[in-house]
Amino acid sequence: MSLRPSSILVVMEMHSLLPLTVALLGLLSPCLTGPTPRVSFSLGTPGRRVSRFTSPDVSNTTTLLLSDDEETLYVGARDAVLALDVSHKDAIILRGKLDWSPSEKDLEQCSMKGKKMSDCPNFIRVLQFLNSTHIYACGTFAFSPHCTSINSETLTMSLKLDEGRGRCPYDPYQRNTAIIVDGELYTGTVADYRGNRPVISRHLSGGVHVDLKLDDTLGWLEDPTFISSSFIADEEKIYFFFSEVGREYDFVDKFIVSRVSQICMSDVGGQRTLQRRWTTFAKAQLLCQAENELPYNVLQDIDALPPAEGAPTDDTLFYGIFTSQWSVTSGRSAVCSFRQADIRSVFSGNYKVLNRDTLRWSTRVQEKVANPGECGLHNASDNALRFVKDNFLTDRSVFPSGRGPTLVSADHTYTHLTVHRVHAPHSRAYTVLFLLTDSGFLHKAVLLPGGVHIVEELQVFEPPQPILSMKLSISKGLVYVGTSGGLVGVPAANCSFYWTCAQCVLARDPFCGWDPVSRACVGASSDHTHLGQDVDGGNVKEVCGVSSMNRDRFCPSKRSSGVCPPGELVWVSLNEVVRLQCSATSRLSRQTWERPNSRLSPDLYLHLEDGGLSFVATPTTLGHYLCLSSEHGHEQTMAVYLVKQKSSPLAQTPPGANTRPRADPVPPTRSVTRPRPGPGPDTTVEHEGTEAKPTRSNRGSTRPPGSNLTLRADGAWQKDSGHQGGGPLLPLQGPCYLRELVLVSVLLVLCLSLLITSFLYAVRQRCHRRTAPQVATPTRDPDRRTPTEQDNPRGNLFLSKRNSPALHSSPPGGFLSNGAPAGPNGRLANIPV
Ligand SMILES: *[C@@H]1O[C@H](CO)[C@@H](O)[C@H](O)[C@H]1NC(C)=O
Ligand SMILES: *[C@@H]1O[C@H](CO)[C@@H](O)[C@H](O)[C@H]1NC(C)=O
Ligand SMILES: *[C@@H]1O[C@H](CO)[C@@H](O)[C@H](O)[C@H]1NC(C)=O
Ligand SMILES: *[C@@H]1O[C@H](CO)[C@@H](O)[C@H](O)[C@H]1NC(C)=O
Repeated sequence: MSLRPSSILVVMEMHSLLPLTVALLGLLSPCLTGPTPRVSFSLGTPGRRVSRFTSPDVSNTTTLLLSDDEETLYVGARDAVLALDVSHKDAIILRGKLDWSPSEKDLEQCSMKGKKMSDCPNFIRVLQFLNSTHIYACGTFAFSPHCTSINSETLTMSLKLDEGRGRCPYDPYQRNTAIIVDGELYTGTVADYRGNRPVISRHLSGGVHVDLKLDDTLGWLEDPTFISSSFIADEEKIYFFFSEVGREYDFVDKFIVSRVSQICMSDVGGQRTLQRRWTTFAKAQLLCQAENELPYNVLQDIDALPPAEGAPTDDTLFYGIFTSQWSVTSGRSAVCSFRQADIRSVFSGNYKVLNRDTLRWSTRVQEKVANPGECGLHNASDNALRFVKDNFLTDRSVFPSGRGPTLVSADHTYTHLTVHRVHAPHSRAYTVLFLLTDSGFLHKAVLLPGGVHIVEELQVFEPPQPILSMKLSISKGLVYVGTSGGLVGVPAANCSFYWTCAQCVLARDPFCGWDPVSRACVGASSDHTHLGQDVDGGNVKEVCGVSSMNRDRFCPSKRSSGVCPPGELVWVSLNEVVRLQCSATSRLSRQTWERPNSRLSPDLYLHLEDGGLSFVATPTTLGHYLCLSSEHGHEQTMAVYLVKQKSSPLAQTPPGANTRPRADPVPPTRSVTRPRPGPGPDTTVEHEGTEAKPTRSNRGSTRPPGSNLTLRADGAWQKDSGHQGGGPLLPLQGPCYLRELVLVSVLLVLCLSLLITSFLYAVRQRCHRRTAPQVATPTRDPDRRTPTEQDNPRGNLFLSKRNSPALHSSPPGGFLSNGAPAGPNGRLANIPV
């Protein structure tokens, strides 16, 4: 995504309302990344099983409706409505299927109108409970929308089909929203074939109510994308959430704004003016903007979080995902929350006026004839109704609670969310967001006072999946994701994945707590009051009572045996490049290396990006190494190695022996020496010197394909067992290959130098050509890699150093520091030697 300064400048010039400095600072703001998921589970990982529903004759299962008892999930699919039994936690079973497809003739007409045959089926886009016995469903029906009521028990359709215009879009790719309250259907959709007559309307009205819609001559809606609608019980209103073109910003370009709009359920239209039209329609801008950044102006999804027990109802929070329309911020997304009380206060405030001659908006100066947005205007005078007809845009915008985004992510484009409040063991309630990324990952995020903590990410589908939806079953603790390819049910948590108290606490998952009696991490929903957890602090010491490790880490069992455990033996030849591995317990942990009584000089040791350690074997670098992983102040030993020199090439141990540490005749390694699966590293701390439980080391032995980037609590072991020979060494086999090695290295260095020289030359040429001042941007432009350029020559130096014995005695002082963020350096380390 290349930065287009010209387009930004246009935007900045147009921003009469957003100060220029904001836009500028947005560009200059440092590379912002957002919170990292603590652990990641790829598709099909056994630690985080999901239930799936797919069927060859069912597709586009993207409209979801969960029954009140949360036992049945109704799904609107292509040419079908399904009833799925979701009463079992780990399975989704088809209970019934209603086929509802257009006739051959309908399809023929659809394709004659020039539509693609694959878009002509009946895509169910409205699915709502009508009453206790029936569901109301609408589908696109070959670009001629139709609706029907369906018996929710028998899944039989009523014989009479309703016209679907204004209730359901014609085009299956157009977004819409619908909600039924008290038997009346409120919809936001486009009401014509071409998709340019948007309307918010009421249908199925009875009694004194009449069906209402927007007066569409007024431009009340400007090319909207409907996102969601919500019933506001205490105000008897319906809120609609959408994004549209913000005409009040007279930009050259189309500036998108996100909106909340309201209508009163008691509305019956005016008597002469606004007959059969809303008299209570009002809309307000939703602002989601971080300080010093361009606004996140495009709403993607929104979900309501009801207030905590005992709190007033207008403490309801609406959590929305926003992206931005500009290419500078593409790929980023933000979550903002809006209080119902704030929305209400904006709607009851002042309104802007539209000058019909100039089509410009201004703040009102003339006298106020009526209160726009007020319910109960049906008997109002024509004068008052004309006033509300022209005054429907609030003067103020709705600011997010806390005045800024709850979460900003530069790495993930979130598309859908559901929000839930969870009572953590021994603690308060936490807000948990389930966020779906466009790359198919579900993030579980906890909102903490210090910021957002992403407990885990879980891959639920392979992209691309164009239209999808998400539903949370609170009683079942399951998140359902409806995609084009099928339905996925994801348990909100798998506490038993965390084997130890430390892992259970470090996860900081409010769904889980440590049960000291059964010594297991268990779900917090049950009425366990004795569970240990610390979601805010992740304080292992306090919850688990685990003492930090004693200083004498290399000899934990000295007292009993009198000798230090050998650690994992690593046989090396002098001048060989040694690479010791150390895996992370989570993405938030940091690995550090220690040697007995000495610090690791950055001159001799290279800390690899994957947590490993690389160095050249010399007499001084032989000996013990210990890798520690620390997270939230909790340290645990991940690995202990003993690097020893091979006695002589002749007496070399057979190749198998040093590469299969666990299979050699050495007595079983102590738990300290090697991270074990499952009980893993923590057990080392808790039962130092005892042996790891062998039963668990045999579990879950298959590594899912492509999971090498996946960190698991037992990832260490998984990774190691995964690669052939499992040894911590690079596959260097002594001096016999040395000549070839040197040759290859020299060639490599030559090639790299050539490449870099030409690259530098190209960059310089480009810089010369550029006249505009350059700004550092967080875009992932492959052409802007200045830091890499600078690092590469050093890299070369280092490479030649570590490959040629002659050079290694004179290392350039400290050019690769210990904790350096190992972007380019890490890449270096991966160059095969
Ligand atoms: C939870 O994790 C454990 C340990 O990895 C695994 O054995 C189990 O199958 C998982 N359960 C679910 C429902 O994912
Ligand atoms: C629910 O609505 C359907 C369709 O309009 C109707 O036939 C049925 O009688 C209603 N059921 C109840 C309990 O009102
Ligand atoms: C509005 O006027 C009608 C008659 O025109 C009357 O029946 C009704 O009660 C009035 N409603 C209100 C809220 O005043
Ligand atoms: C229906 O699903 C298919 C893939 O199964 C997808 O290509 C298509 O775009 C979907 N159609 C709609 C309208 O979502």
